[in-house]
Amino acid sequence: MFVVVGVTGGIAAYKTVSLVRLLVKDGHDVHVIPTDDALRFVGRPTWEAISRNPVTTSVHDDVARVRHVALGQQADLVVIAPATANTIAKMAAGLADDLLGTTLLATTAPVVIAPAMHTEMWRNPATQANVDTLTSRGVHMIGPESGQLTGDDSGPGRMTEPERIHEVVTRELRKGSGEAAGRTWLVTAGGTREAIDPVRFIGNRSSGRQGVEVALAAARRGADVVLVAANVAHDVIADALRDPRIRVAHVSSTEQLAEAAEREAPGADVVVMAAAVSDYRVADVAERKITKEQAGGALRLDLVENPDILAGLARGRRDGQTIVGFAAETPAEGETLAERAIAKRRRKGADLLAANEVGFERGFELADNHLVVIDASDAVVADVAGTKRETAEALVAAIIAR
Ligand code: CTP
Repeated sequence: MFVVVGVTGGIAAYKTVSLVRLLVKDGHDVHVIPTDDALRFVGRPTWEAISRNPVTTSVHDDVARVRHVALGQQADLVVIAPATANTIAKMAAGLADDLLGTTLLATTAPVVIAPAMHTEMWRNPATQANVDTLTSRGVHMIGPESGQLTGDDSGPGRMTEPERIHEVVTRELRKGSGEAAGRTWLVTAGGTREAIDPVRFIGNRSSGRQGVEVALAAARRGADVVLVAANVAHDVIADALRDPRIRVAHVSSTEQLAEAAEREAPGADVVVMAAAVSDYRVADVAERKITKEQAGGALRLDLVENPDILAGLARGRRDGQTIVGFAAETPAEGETLAERAIAKRRRKGADLLAANEVGFERGFELADNHLVVIDASDAVVADVAGTKRETAEALVAAIIAR
C-alpha cells in the first residue's frame, strides 16, 4: 500500500529510520517527506536508501506531477513520526507552507502521529488544545511515552518506539475507512486450466489483471478481500500480495476454483466472479504424457461440462449477499454488448453482470478495457472505457451503490 511517512525536526527522527525499514519490509510503497528541520537530524540519502523512493521536501520539486497534492491523494495512510509541537500546531491550523503541509491537507487517508518533545512543551495548553483539535478530527495519536528525554530531564515527551508505531500503522491500514469497511468480498481472477495429461492443459487468455484490479479497488474502499487467483502471473498479482487487506488463495483447475469459491462464499457479502472459467474439462486425464505414436494422425479429446460456479452461487445466495458475474463477449454483427450482457445475467441469476468486448486484438492481456455493467432490471448502471484500474473502480462503485 502507499504509505507517506512525514518526519519533522526532532532527534527521534533517527528512530523513524527503523519504522520506514519495517514498512518497506512489509512490501509497502513508502514515501518519506522530511521537513527542512528534519534533514538536520537525518539526511536525504538515508531516507532515499531506506525507503527506496526519491525524497523531496519542496512544493516546487516535481511540479509536472503535481507532487504537492499527489502524494496525499495517493496515500492509503500518512504517519508523522516524530511530530514536533510546531508541526502539531501547523496541522491544527491547517497551514500548508511545505510539502508535508500540502500533503496533509490533500489527503483523505487516515493520519497517525507520534509526538515527541520536551515535557513542558507537551504540557503547554497551546499544544494540548492543538492535540484535542486533531483528535476530534479523527487523527490517531500514539504516545508520547514517559521516560528519559534528550537532556537530563524525563517525563512525557518521548516518541513511542518504532515497533509499536508500526503495529498501529499496520492495524489502521487493515481497518480502512471506505464505504466497504467491515464487508468481505470474494473476488476470483485469472483463467482456469484443465489438464489433458501431466504436461498439457486447456486454458484461456485471461491474465487476471481485471480481477486483481477489482480486488485492489475493493480493498482501497476498506473491504476485507479474499482473492482466488487462477494461474495469475506474479507481476500481475504482486500489488494484491502486498495488500494487508487481501488474502490470496491460488488455484488452477475449475474444480479447485469451485472448491475455493464454495468454501469462501458463505462468509462473503459480495462475490465477484471475474475469473474466466473453463466450461469443459477433459473426461479422462491421461496419467502419462500422450505421445504422437499413441495419438496417431489426429488426437481426439472427450470433454465433459464443468459445473457453473456463478449460477450455483447465485442460486444459493443468502439474504443481503450480492453476486456479480463477468462476461467476455464477441458480439455478432447487429448485436450490442449490453444485449449479450442482459441475456447472460438472466441466465446466470446474478445481481449484476459486467461485460467487456474481447477479440484477438481486444480485451485480453491489455491494460485498457471497456466495461458495461447490467443490473437486475436490465439497466446499464455503468459504461466505462479506460484502464483496468479505472473500469474496476467504476464496477466497485456500482456494486457499493447497489
Ligand atoms: N462461470 C462460472 N462457471 C463456469 C463458467 C463460467 O462461474 N463453469 C462464470 C464466470 O466466472 C463469469 C460468468 O460465469 O463470471 C460468465 O462466464 P462465461 O464463460 O461468459 O459464461 P458461459 O455460461 O460459459 O457463457 P458462454 O456460453 O457465452 O461461454
